[in-house]
Amino acid sequence: MKEIKAIDYSIWIGKNSFSKLDISNYSQVAILVDENTKRDCLSKLPQIENALIIEIKSGEEYKNISTCNLIWEQLTINNFDRNSLLINLGGGVIGDMGGFCAATYKRGLEFIHIPTTLLAMVDASVGGKLGIDFKGFKNQIGLFNNPKAVLISPEFLETLAENELKSGFAEVVKHALISDNSLWVKLKNTPFNELDWESIINTSVQIKNKIVLADPFEKGERKKLNFGHTFGHAIESYYLEKGTPISHGEAVFMGMILETKISDLSETDKNEIKNYVLSNFALPYTPKKSSLHKFLINDKKNQNGKINFTLLNGIGNCSLDNLFSLDEL
Ligand SMILES: NC(=O)c1ccc[n+]([C@@H]2O[C@H](COP(=O)([O-])OP(=O)(O)OC[C@H]3O[C@@H](n4cnc5c(N)ncnc54)[C@H](O)[C@@H]3O)[C@@H](O)[C@H]2O)c1
Repeated sequence: MKEIKAIDYSIWIGKNSFSKLDISNYSQVAILVDENTKRDCLSKLPQIENALIIEIKSGEEYKNISTCNLIWEQLTINNFDRNSLLINLGGGVIGDMGGFCAATYKRGLEFIHIPTTLLAMVDASVGGKLGIDFKGFKNQIGLFNNPKAVLISPEFLETLAENELKSGFAEVVKHALISDNSLWVKLKNTPFNELDWESIINTSVQIKNKIVLADPFEKGERKKLNFGHTFGHAIESYYLEKGTPISHGEAVFMGMILETKISDLSETDKNEIKNYVLSNFALPYTPKKSSLHKFLINDKKNQNGKINFTLLNGIGNCSLDNLFSLDEL
């Protein structure tokens, strides 16, 4: 089992990470699940006597204030006091929303994340971002607050759908490209179904944690994590508007290919990245750039009407605040 020290909590990685689940000091414990994590993950946790199981419906469309009402209601009618604990057992939706509900219930309960998707393990588990969607805007309402601990057990990935696994993997590839050439070499030389998840998760979380420690409130360094996400978000919005949504990971893979093209990299590196992604993952077609313009000009990161990209300047290195007008793209 590995320990990674985040700002004021530890992330434990390994099959026996549950040995770090210490509930001895809490008056009551609730476990937040959706129907899938209740079915596939709950029985893998150590038995917690008298724990209240709060079940919500799975999916981004339920990451909203109505579901928060249900969670707060369960805590209230079961007389949870401020010395209680909420365990978030699930993907990024459960983690973001459960953390948000805990951080706001009676001005703050402690919570522990037990992420069960690859995305939640390597991305949502670090950085303290909590929240819900509102009026069609993603993560519109929320706050920064850290869990008491994060316990990552890669065995949860055994029941995760292949498309969800690959979606989370886009963030692993991103972490390698922006900051760790040796992880990139490992990824490209290992067939996808032979990857050692424990080791990959460990390296990937370390990369994100280092970036977050340097910039906890997203003022500078943390912009590194935006690589692939400027075009990626525009592509995701394009498909959403068309009524044929694609996964976040697919959009990020396509975003990384497009942003690699405008990066300061050798042609060999550019082709290597593109070929790696395309030979491992079946992606939807890339929309014409003109159909992405309206999404790009509304990107939150824009400065003075220019689109702001984090780009690679070598594999394992990146540069921030590369500004392009639409005409220059
Ligand atoms: N806080 C952050 O820093 C951060 C970072 C990235 C993403 N996010 C958020 O994360 C969310 C996406 O998270 P996600 O990709 O984990 O999706 P998700 O939470 O919707 O989970 C995907 C699906 O997998 C199911 N599932 C989860 N674990 C399973 C398992 N072990 N076996 C079988 N099924 C399982 C879920 O029930 C769900 O149907 C988005 O809302 C995004 O905004 C947050």
